[in-house]
Amino acid sequence: MKAKSLVVANWKMNKSYVPGIMLLNQIISALDPLPEGQEMVICPPYIHLQTAQTLTKDRFDVYIGAQNCHVQKEGAYTGEISAPMLADLDIKYVILGHSERRRDFGENGKMLTAKLKQVLRQNLQPIYCFGEPLQVRKDGQEQAFVEQQLQEVLGQLSPQQMEQVVLAYEPIWAIGTGQTASPEEAEAMHAFIRSYLAKTFSEELAQKITILYGGSCKPSNASALFAQPNINGALVGGASLNADDFLAIVEAGREKL
Ligand code: 13P
Repeated sequence: MKAKSLVVANWKMNKSYVPGIMLLNQIISALDPLPEGQEMVICPPYIHLQTAQTLTKDRFDVYIGAQNCHVQKEGAYTGEISAPMLADLDIKYVILGHSERRRDFGENGKMLTAKLKQVLRQNLQPIYCFGEPLQVRKDGQEQAFVEQQLQEVLGQLSPQQMEQVVLAYEPIWAIGTGQTASPEEAEAMHAFIRSYLAKTFSEELAQKITILYGGSCKPSNASALFAQPNINGALVGGASLNADDFLAIVEAGREKL
């Protein structure tokens, strides 16, 4: 089995309810069915999830994801949303470990391992994000840094659990900066990630895992990124808030992935 290709929208904390649902409608109504093995995923804020799920439930190429969830199943955690609540809505994916959450909410490897396991217990698919800050890349330590972020979380999973995980390499210096990793820089890291998976699990499993690139992905650079053999799609922030731009990235994926 080959890794599936995903183009994932991370709306972050953008779009209130009505503009968000309008954007989703604009995107899905313009999208011709994707070939087997390719999916478009939209991760809006929590308030959109139920409507978004209803609007996309008859499409086999469009799925909805959440941007986070709590580590516990239920309880006295004011303001939080649990993985079982997302599973109840038939949400398919949950982004975990985004650098903005590591930075702003102190999420670390131990916490993220527990979150991944909770999400997997609910039969949801985690999209596990990781990536190095600028200084680490300047120091030439990016592979060691990423290996640590992989090992402290993925190293705690069984092969069966790992098969359900999507990975997203998002170098922090490329997020929201307009500065994308070059296709060669991104491919070098993606090849490194796949070799980590082969070493830790097996070559067969490594080939099945979807590895997304994230960080200033836009229509002008998507095709070159998707042409790289170890890049299976993208996690898109800013450009996913515009229907034409996001659809252009999805179309680049249709051609290349
Ligand atoms: P940008 O595409 O805005 O750089 O954001 C990337 C990202 O953080 C997606 O999760």
